[in-house]
Amino acid sequence: MYANGCQYAHKAIRNKNISNSLMATLYSFVLYSSLLISCFLQKSYGFEGGRKAITEDHFHTIQIKSLLPASICSPSTIATKGSSKRQSTLKVLHRHGPCSQQSQDKPTTTPTLSEVLSHDQSRVEYIQARLVPNSNANKIKDANSNKNKLKDKKANIPAQSGRSLGSGNYIVSVGLGTPTKTLSLIFDTGSDLTWTQCQPCARSCYKQQDPIFSPSSSTSYSNVSCSSSQCSQLSSATGNNPSCSIAACVYGIQYGDQSFSVGFFSKDKLTLTPTDVFPNFLFGCGQNNQGLFGNTAGLIGLGRDPLSIVSQTAQKYGKYFSYCLPSTSSSTGHLTLGKSGVSTTTKFTPFDSSQGKSFYFIDIVSISVGGQLLSINQSVFKTSGTIIDSGTVITRLPPTAYSTMRAVFKQLMQKYPNAPAYSILDTCYDLSNYKNVAISIPKISFTFSGNVKVDLDGSGILVAVSTTQVCLAFAGNGDASDVAIFGNTQQKTLEVVYDVAGGKLGFNPGGCK
Ligand SMILES: *[C@@H]1O[C@H](CO)[C@@H](O)[C@H](O)[C@H]1NC(C)=O
Ligand SMILES: *[C@@H]1O[C@H](CO)[C@@H](O)[C@H](O)[C@H]1NC(C)=O
Repeated sequence: MYANGCQYAHKAIRNKNISNSLMATLYSFVLYSSLLISCFLQKSYGFEGGRKAITEDHFHTIQIKSLLPASICSPSTIATKGSSKRQSTLKVLHRHGPCSQQSQDKPTTTPTLSEVLSHDQSRVEYIQARLVPNSNANKIKDANSNKNKLKDKKANIPAQSGRSLGSGNYIVSVGLGTPTKTLSLIFDTGSDLTWTQCQPCARSCYKQQDPIFSPSSSTSYSNVSCSSSQCSQLSSATGNNPSCSIAACVYGIQYGDQSFSVGFFSKDKLTLTPTDVFPNFLFGCGQNNQGLFGNTAGLIGLGRDPLSIVSQTAQKYGKYFSYCLPSTSSSTGHLTLGKSGVSTTTKFTPFDSSQGKSFYFIDIVSISVGGQLLSINQSVFKTSGTIIDSGTVITRLPPTAYSTMRAVFKQLMQKYPNAPAYSILDTCYDLSNYKNVAISIPKISFTFSGNVKVDLDGSGILVAVSTTQVCLAFAGNGDASDVAIFGNTQQKTLEVVYDVAGGKLGFNPGGCK
């Protein structure tokens, strides 16, 4: 069916009279592009070997309470490594946490944990489908059947209203236009185009917290023309060919699970900090927007493509940025552009740049659980490849790697009673008897190529699904060839440094609280 869909979409684009009305263009662009997206696929492999590592101190002591969302914002005031030296830095908030203005609309807009995990699965399936070469038709079919499986599972789970974890999931505030308007955007290393909803919302805008950006009120705004080279760059940045409305360049981008934005490709002044201003920043001015963006104004794309904010600000920041995702939704982290404040003790693993132009590929060499090096054949990670993604919540591992991890973890957690699986999380514990006492959980560390060993924070190992139940915060992929994803739960409190120009990714513990 999807093979036919591809033919249909290409033919439709060729035959389409693109000087239709704006509405028709925007509407049909979504239809065609949703078919076309499955027609642009890519994948390749390439890896290096590495060495083994042994941990010294093998358990974290944590309180289940520390894993539950707090209701009061307590922004990081404690100086963390390099914080006084950071210049171009933005505060990072959990989208649904108490530090975010978005959360004032609670509880109606705060997704439940099961919703978060179900959205996470959609994102993962979408990323994996984009990276698989020929078998996209099967892939999408599988994705749909998985979704149905998830739905069935979800039906058995009591919804927990007001429960927040954040999907997609960390936001920063930036300024756009003249005079400057403040916009809260999701930051995403898994995509490239930055966009915001724009007036007059010709087709549709979802509800957002900030006033919707009005291009006609900005004296520095301009449309990108259809014939410009910038317009044609959209193909690689979004995976969809641009369209035209009269002379204006029209973009379309979708993120899986029916989330998308379509609108005019535009230029305006981007203000990151009072001294960091970019006059002709290229972004999407969305006239038709739908999906899982919560109440944010849109998205900031930190991928590797020439249209990403990383590339567009390269002259000033040298394609270098870092962030730290806070351990709970009640604290704050940072997103810093440029090198300032990055610790000299940062350990770097090379990016595997042989793989596509957008995602950040890295190589997992080994994983330890409770000091035990897991016995996983190297070829397992080579077969899948791995990306690091700020927008995926739960780390996905190749099936055999995950089952090995789970077996060792279970053995070391034997003394805690088991609890039923929860959504995509299959290794859960009933801590009713441990509500107010500390529990001891095995440390987990990842070694990436270049012998870069990263110990996960205690907050990056378990997810609390209630005040008495926790689950291992990892999941296995359905297929050995699906790409592995190092997700944002596992990145918590780590300073993660992207030296894109230098082709390497750095990790540093204790980047934020
Ligand atoms: C941008 O293009 C659209 C569609 O052609 C048009 O309605 C709008 O007025 C243009 N804006 C500017 C500032 O040129
Ligand atoms: C690892 O897997 C590869 C490919 O499946 C196989 O050829 C090799 O013998 C395996 N190595 C070990 C040590 O099991």
